[in-house]
Amino acid sequence: MMPVRALAARALARIALGGESLREVSAHSVGKIAAARDRALFTALLNEGSRWWLRFDPALDDLLKQPLRERQPEVHALLVLGLVQREVMGIAEHAVVASSVEAVRALQRPRFAGLVNAVLRRWLRERVERLRTLDAVPQTQHAFPSWLIDAVGRDWPDLSAAVLAASNRVVPPMLRVNRRRQTREGLQARLAQTGVASAPHPWLEDALMLDRNRDITVLPGFVEGYFSVQDGAAQIAADLLSPASGMRVLDACAAPGGKTCHLLERSDLYLLAVEREASRAEHIRENQRRLGLPATVCIGDATVPASWWDGKAFDRILLDAPCSASGVIRRHPDIKLHRRERDLEALVAVQHQMLEALWPLLAPGGTLLYATCSILHAENREVVQAFMAAHSDAGIERRVLPAGHSAGPGWQLLPGEAGLDGMYYARLGKRGG
Ligand SMILES: C[S@@+](CC[C@H](N)C(=O)[O-])C[C@H]1O[C@@H](n2cnc3c(N)ncnc32)[C@H](O)[C@@H]1O
Repeated sequence: MMPVRALAARALARIALGGESLREVSAHSVGKIAAARDRALFTALLNEGSRWWLRFDPALDDLLKQPLRERQPEVHALLVLGLVQREVMGIAEHAVVASSVEAVRALQRPRFAGLVNAVLRRWLRERVERLRTLDAVPQTQHAFPSWLIDAVGRDWPDLSAAVLAASNRVVPPMLRVNRRRQTREGLQARLAQTGVASAPHPWLEDALMLDRNRDITVLPGFVEGYFSVQDGAAQIAADLLSPASGMRVLDACAAPGGKTCHLLERSDLYLLAVEREASRAEHIRENQRRLGLPATVCIGDATVPASWWDGKAFDRILLDAPCSASGVIRRHPDIKLHRRERDLEALVAVQHQMLEALWPLLAPGGTLLYATCSILHAENREVVQAFMAAHSDAGIERRVLPAGHSAGPGWQLLPGEAGLDGMYYARLGKRGG
């Protein structure tokens, strides 16, 4: 089999230079790697390579006579990975050089072996000075695109350094216990029996925090549907929507079904899960099957309810709108590479459209929960404020959480606060019930 670093360089080139998603490239490649240790290294290389690309990709400009990005994307990615291994992952210098030279040969690029060796050795000689140069510019200091550094600085001036640092931190997965099949204490004990340490989140009833990254699918209880992977910030949706048994609930942007399944684990509901992408809707069905939950999944466009709505009002609506995902970069570092400032305008337009389209489906006295995993005001408080100003039958149902910030009509968690992802929630009640 090809060495792990060669596979990782090939995959990272597709993500960072080819625009493919880390999740998809990873899912496609990791199963082909036999040994668990190699899989873990491959995953770490892809994640850290994506997380730190914007720091170490520009560092190569000055080390190469001619850029390789376009001519030899895999060799370029291999060099970025060399710097990431030394500077981020703490891998020994001789191992970085030797394994990179081996990898470039495995990639069928033997004529670049000398160049890879020379560039990495030069970095190692000059690294202190070169790191100082990278630290002098915010974009290469934080490995963030400059538009996003500016946007975070504008919206969270006192907290932007903390937000950027938290977004670059590696965090272990969080689990959500399936109450219908297991108690949190029971799952914790079962995991402990196999040497997996975990701790309950202090104020989220179903959340269990793992001590470190692990292959979740081989943990005891996964196949039996005792738990799912879901950051605690996303688990707050079920607390804020809190439907009573028997209610009609709409989840308007449902895939892969994390929040849908959580709601169903808590109460017996009629829940309609709408999702535009058929392939993503399949993930909702897979999760439901594994967790043993009922729900009606419908492939449809949330901005055009006439094509899927039966005309009966909902008591609760969850609108987990498509967004910049700027609050979840710590778990999806390729967002820094793929999201563009110009995407925002279209996202904000869809968020407005969805609120407008779904509001008539809510019963008087009902609650709509607007949610995004963004930390930008333009997608959060400004969307909800504009909606409130245009709808006299909409009232704010305020909730204060143990962490985070009041943000217009809603509540904002920033990445890392209470150990959670960044997430925005606003509860809108419909008058006249
Ligand atoms: C933030 S994700 C939802 C995450 C989900 N609620 C969960 O907790 O697992 C947003 C989803 O909205 C879907 N989506 C985007 N535009 C849509 C539309 N017009 N109608 C319905 N779904 C849409 C996306 O495909 C994506 O799956």
